Amino acid sequence: MFLDSLRKKFFQPASFLGCDIGTTSIKIAELKRSGDHTTLTNYALLESFGHFERSNNVLQANDLKLSEQETANMLRLLIKQGKFSTTRAVASVPTFASFITVLEIPSMNDDETAKAMSYQIRQHIPLPLSEIAVDWIRVGQQEDNNGFVKQFILLVAIPNEVIERYRAIFKRAGLSLHALEVEPLAYARSVIGSDQTPALIIDIGARSTNITAVDQGFVKLNAQIDYAGDSLTEAIARGLGVGLRRAEDLKKQKGLAGGHGEYELSTLELPFIDVILHEVEKVRAECERVHAAKINRCLLIGGGSNLIGIESYVESKLGIPTSTGNGLLFAPAPDRLAVVEKELQTRFALAVGLAIKGFI
Ligand SMILES: Nc1ncnc2c1ncn2[C@@H]1O[C@H](COP(=O)(O)OP(=O)(O)OP(=O)(O)O)[C@@H](O)[C@H]1O
Ligand SMILES: [Mg+2]
Repeated sequence: MFLDSLRKKFFQPASFLGCDIGTTSIKIAELKRSGDHTTLTNYALLESFGHFERSNNVLQANDLKLSEQETANMLRLLIKQGKFSTTRAVASVPTFASFITVLEIPSMNDDETAKAMSYQIRQHIPLPLSEIAVDWIRVGQQEDNNGFVKQFILLVAIPNEVIERYRAIFKRAGLSLHALEVEPLAYARSVIGSDQTPALIIDIGARSTNITAVDQGFVKLNAQIDYAGDSLTEAIARGLGVGLRRAEDLKKQKGLAGGHGEYELSTLELPFIDVILHEVEKVRAECERVHAAKINRCLLIGGGSNLIGIESYVESKLGIPTSTGNGLLFAPAPDRLAVVEKELQTRFALAVGLAIKGFI
């Protein structure tokens, strides 16, 4: 124990990269720790617009056909241009490439829980144990009206094939992969601060939106829906008869606020936001039913959270305080990055959470 803390104090690497390989972009955040202070020292973003023109040109497709060579090349390019000071990286595995579930089992001691879990893993994961890396953690406990105590266990599994793919990509890119983590655990780490009350985190990306319920710092539920920022761009393009690039510009300039010609942009965008919020309501209801945790705030992250007017719209629909999340709560950015701070807080929340994991 003493040796472990000594090792951490003196031998722990001072910097880590958090690498978020999204469907349409790669984001890297470099965090440096000195004493008890962690700061964001560098970042890089590479966005691809190609996915709009050719639907198979995404960095990461739901069918897992991540193009190893192409992704490694892009990572290598970003690392070179970003002039990062370390090659130690922590990366995320998207929700669709992993299994995340919260199980309810009777309360028992640690040994019995471990035995029960080996059975539960076989029940819940559709792959043989030899083909997955699996981890679980107790995330809560609750007594029902009859005095029966149950515990909640967060079960996470990543197929070995996915891990190997990431290892190969990072090796090709000249990086050393220190750890892999599922997305919700990483962004919950960066945006949930000292306020441990039940919260929803909504990560609105390009191709998918991830919805996570967190209580006392623990992920309690997670769901994903294939509607996100690009759904709005495509709706604007169809509705106004303009190209996707023009639609993307209009979306970013006007958000939910401005009109355009005879259409209000929001008329085109809101049906898709409502579909996302319908899924959010399901997660919220499930969390309140199963965990008896009344959700009382909502944090928006991901590129889509920068849509003008989205916070007040979501707040009015969900009826709970809603704001953009701040991924820099535990790793503030230096003054020179002030102009991009909002983007770092929201779009880099996942990358920052990954880099923090390196120090844990
Ligand atoms: N200022 C803005 N206003 C509205 N939307 C924005 C803004 N900036 C970025 N976006 C949208 O955010 C989306 C990209 O977000 P993000 O970088 O989080 O996606 P990603 O991580 O690559 O995708 P995914 O999480 O789906 O894999 C795009 O749809 C983009 O149009
Ligand atoms: Mg993303």
